[in-house]
Amino acid sequence: MEGRTPFVSATLVSLVYVPPARMWFQPSQLVQRKSLDMLLADTEREGHALKKVLGPWNLVMLGIGAIIGAGIFATIGTATAGDSMRPGAGPALVVSLVLTAVVCGFTALCYAEFASMVPVSGSAYTYSYATLGELVAWIIGWDLILEYGIGNVAVAISWSNYFDTLLQGLGIHFPRWLVIDYRTAHAKMPEVIAAAPHIGSMPIIFNLPAILIVMLLTVLLVWGVKESARFNAVMVAVKMVVLLFFVAVSTKFVKPDNWHPFAPNGFAGVGAGAAAIFFAYIGFDAVSTCAEECKDPKRDMPIGIIGSLIICTIIYVIIAAVFTGMMPYSFLSHASESERAEPLTLAMKYVTMPNWMVGIVALGSVIAQTAVLLVFQLGQPRILFAMARDGFLPPAFAKVHPKFGTPHIATILTGVLVCVASGVANIDEMVDLTNIGTLFAFILVCIGIMILRVREPNRERPFRVPLGTWVIPGLGLASCVFLIYYLPPSSWMRFFAWLIVGLVIYLGYGHRHSTLAARNAKA
Ligand code: ALA
Repeated sequence: MEGRTPFVSATLVSLVYVPPARMWFQPSQLVQRKSLDMLLADTEREGHALKKVLGPWNLVMLGIGAIIGAGIFATIGTATAGDSMRPGAGPALVVSLVLTAVVCGFTALCYAEFASMVPVSGSAYTYSYATLGELVAWIIGWDLILEYGIGNVAVAISWSNYFDTLLQGLGIHFPRWLVIDYRTAHAKMPEVIAAAPHIGSMPIIFNLPAILIVMLLTVLLVWGVKESARFNAVMVAVKMVVLLFFVAVSTKFVKPDNWHPFAPNGFAGVGAGAAAIFFAYIGFDAVSTCAEECKDPKRDMPIGIIGSLIICTIIYVIIAAVFTGMMPYSFLSHASESERAEPLTLAMKYVTMPNWMVGIVALGSVIAQTAVLLVFQLGQPRILFAMARDGFLPPAFAKVHPKFGTPHIATILTGVLVCVASGVANIDEMVDLTNIGTLFAFILVCIGIMILRVREPNRERPFRVPLGTWVIPGLGLASCVFLIYYLPPSSWMRFFAWLIVGLVIYLGYGHRHSTLAARNAKA
């Protein structure tokens, strides 16, 4: 215990230490870029090097771990049936899924080129710093919090819903005020407000299971990335078995008549379905955040990113074909919001499958979403870590644990913030914000590939996006804009508000502490 004291006090000191700032604003700094060589050299700095332990198999599994989760277990209900803000795709959900897979495929190729060329942990943030300059890099780093941090808030809330359903099936009933957020209870459930304990006139209402699962995973992630990858592999195996089980027991209930009309809302429904289902594909890019912990990133990064996307697309299309064939579209479009949020078990109940079968799929969903939480909770601190190393965030975020070799402070702070938010936030708002934030990051990655091909044509590229400089990145860019167009306009507004808050923080801290600017000033 005594030996730990200096370490604990050093950690506490680093948490509050803020290096001296430069006082002036320099417009030229906004477009200053960090060279790829400098980015790579920084990964070797004493006290900032992560352990290199991951192989191709780990990466494919991490990708599948991040991809298959709330999207296929929950969002396909809304994508198929629509809601008050968008028309549904109907049985043409399979077309929406393929469309979104193609959009993600263009971007996945761009990510693979970047991640194999610049195996640095910040993902799109790092690539933007090398190609588009400091301001855009900050914007994208800030934006990625929407994908990883806010995305995880959404998954934690969805996890809690399924977990609660599962416990209820076992006869265990959590008090309602411990499994919901205050705003939802206030808007729709006055009985929950009345039953909750009060401090003065304030009811105590929060989502306890969501908080607990995030805390548990944070401890695992501080412990070690290899241990986390092993735990992830087990969960991925379980979710694959459960999805296979769903297909095996449900196929005999498929009636081809249920696939007519195929696209009840025409292309508007297919497009809106594709935008909604985008959430189900987010995660293949999370593989790139582990580039610095990878034994042979040049070979393994493309395998991890593209391999996991292809495997998940095949699984999704099969599930969607079976799911939409099990019941008529008219039944699903009249289901309640909460029934649509658990679409696979709804379909199983519709064809009157026994409860134990429904229970297996519900359990699979909880496990699948645990894996998503784990990988996203792994990705977010690594982006904060890379930003802190560049001086845009306080240096504490760039510390590596001397024994576990993980960015422990960034991991713990991420855990605390996601815990607090998932205890009190509303899931729908979180999903829409995650979608738009991620699409924006994808757009910048596609642009970055084109710029770097022109600016540094001779740099070694272990993996190259096929068909030259413009075609695939250009299609990636256009198709991401297409999906953003189909998202509800309220999410565009929230996104702009988020960016403005980020800009204020950048001007107040990041711009004045940029390590690259300090180095250039000295040179
Ligand atoms: N793709 C992840 C999921 O569906 C975010 O949960």
